[in-house]
Amino acid sequence: MINFNLSEEQELLKKTAKDFAKNELLEGAVNRDENKIWPKEQISKMANLGFLGMMVNPKWDGGGMDTISYSIAMEEIAAVDASAAVVMSVNNSLVCYLIEHFGSDFQKEKYLKKLASGSNIGAFSLSEPQSGSDASNMITTAIKDGNHYILNGTKNWVTNGINSDLVLVFAITEKGIGHRGISCFIVEKGLSGFECGKAENKLGIRASDTCELYFDNVKISEENRIGEEGEGFKIALSTLDGGRIGIASQALGIASASLYHSIQYSKEREQFGKPIANNQSIQFKLADMAMELEAARLLTWKAAWMKDQHKNFSAIASMAKVYASEVAMRASTQCVQIHGGYGYIAETGVERLMRDAKITQIYEGTSEIQRVVIARSLL
Ligand code: CAA
Repeated sequence: MINFNLSEEQELLKKTAKDFAKNELLEGAVNRDENKIWPKEQISKMANLGFLGMMVNPKWDGGGMDTISYSIAMEEIAAVDASAAVVMSVNNSLVCYLIEHFGSDFQKEKYLKKLASGSNIGAFSLSEPQSGSDASNMITTAIKDGNHYILNGTKNWVTNGINSDLVLVFAITEKGIGHRGISCFIVEKGLSGFECGKAENKLGIRASDTCELYFDNVKISEENRIGEEGEGFKIALSTLDGGRIGIASQALGIASASLYHSIQYSKEREQFGKPIANNQSIQFKLADMAMELEAARLLTWKAAWMKDQHKNFSAIASMAKVYASEVAMRASTQCVQIHGGYGYIAETGVERLMRDAKITQIYEGTSEIQRVVIARSLL
């Protein structure tokens, strides 16, 4: 049986996230973007609302919510500030998820509780300068030394890299056996030999931080290895399946904001003696945006539902991410077009949507990689 109604709790959560975004994120979003200011105060308020560990079991100080609830909250936050949304997404669907599902009780007690309550922020570090889409082609090593590992290498494109308290790092523990030689570690900030690079100067999501990480003989305790040696790559890929629902939801937020601003502006803006919304050329753009947004949301919620039902959701999560991110890109581009010259300047706030949309087609697996995942599941 199919039911498209949100539950009472989900409706309440949607309103809470929408009000929070309007009251706490909206003001200053353009300034934070322009000046690359990480939303520290706003993230701590999001933590107080329980937005940083939404799906984690309450036993580990999380919200115990389902993935559709997470998607709803992500969409509302991203509609106003996609930078704050990616901080939330990485902490929830990559870091908390990974430790909860693959970590030991010791790791959950020591790290997950702080991450789920939002008193700590986490980052996820898989990519390296030479290995992006081909993620298993990494060269960072973690060589066993008694009951420790010695970590050496360089990682890049790490969201929350600078502002996090710990990073989940994937490294080779056994060379020459491909992905079966990769393991996953919790690496705390402040360890000797662990340095962050400068914040990248990005096209969009400029208020979130992205940096390189450098490991020079960093000593990591064996108890910080997640899972068994050699399980790291599968842990990374199965975590990314859920992460892609988070990014699809971020894209939904950008698309819904694009539609909202397009409707408002086209009703207000008059040319040739009438609102531009009276023109069929504008109406068709609005209709396409609404139609595609609806389809993207249904796909994303289906992926979230399948994850919660413990079905294989890898391909549908990829479908949701690739489709929602393309919808966000089209909708935000049309939004700028509808605003004309006013859409092209920062103060109006809509060019930010277009810049922010682009990354949703790239991180947590490019659109091309999502299509690889989808095609493999078909074949
Ligand atoms: N879950 C669990 N295991 C999986 C899996 C999944 N979804 N997909 C594949 N596997 C398993 C396979 O079964 C295989 O195991 P066996 O050898 O035992 O059969 C193993 O993992 C390797 O799989 P493949 O041979 O298919 O691996 P591949 O090297 O061909 O790569 C890929 C597959 C889909 C291209 C993968 O590399 C990929 O997703 N690449 C993109 C990486 C990515 O998303 N990076 C984003 C980094 S995070 C980020 O963006 C930054 C941020 O901070 C937001």
